Amino acid sequence: MRRPLIAGNWKMHTNILEAYLLVSEIGKCAAGLDDRDVLLAPPNVALSSVSRVLQDSDVLLASQNVCWAEKGAFTGEISPTMVKAVGGVASIIGHSERRQIFHEDDEMINKRVLGALKFGLMAIFCIGETLEERESENTFEVLESQIRQGLAGVSSEDMQKTVVAYEPVWAIGTGKTATKEQAQEVHAFIRKLLAEMYEKDVAESVRILYGGSVNAENVDELMAQPDIDGALVGGAALKADSFCRIINFN
Ligand code: 13P
Repeated sequence: MRRPLIAGNWKMHTNILEAYLLVSEIGKCAAGLDDRDVLLAPPNVALSSVSRVLQDSDVLLASQNVCWAEKGAFTGEISPTMVKAVGGVASIIGHSERRQIFHEDDEMINKRVLGALKFGLMAIFCIGETLEERESENTFEVLESQIRQGLAGVSSEDMQKTVVAYEPVWAIGTGKTATKEQAQEVHAFIRKLLAEMYEKDVAESVRILYGGSVNAENVDELMAQPDIDGALVGGAALKADSFCRIINFN
């Protein structure tokens, strides 16, 4: 059985005080949820204060991106060991905003995935098609290429420490969620592809999250799908009441 994972990606929101207040509320409603994982990815500047609040809780901490190198001349980057030193256990990698706005390509994303894994972080590897790609019926081709390139060189063992997040670009921040059928279809495709690339039991154990306008109203039906193992939540993760409802999905 795959343990559900609900992750909140705060993107470039919250200053240190706002982050402190938000995590304090979330920490309270996440207490005692022992059949699922909850993870927060605040902006780097707030990692340490959020980590302090989470000290005695089971809520996991992640960075929103990570460099492949431990240290060096990489202005603007955060290293895997820095993330770990502040209490982080995971990094989001390959988010569509990184791909589209900052032109991170599959090769760079692959380096980040391998770097995170090498230093013992869980990689939350994001993929997703644009609206144009979906409308021209290229969804599966695009996703397969992102997966094969982004996960190149990832061993079976490391794949079990990797989470795949399917985030259709057209559903991010638009209020337009993929239907549960659309999401399930893609998740099943991803799992089948992973079974071709790895062993079947590895593919069965990898958690595949859905992201894109997940909210308190649609989380239950998404989570009821057999291949949806969790959610990567943006906007609705910035309000304690909606995120608390989401992590308490039925
Ligand atoms: P929204 O939930 O705001 O659509 O964002 C999704 C996302 O990009 C999470 O990483």
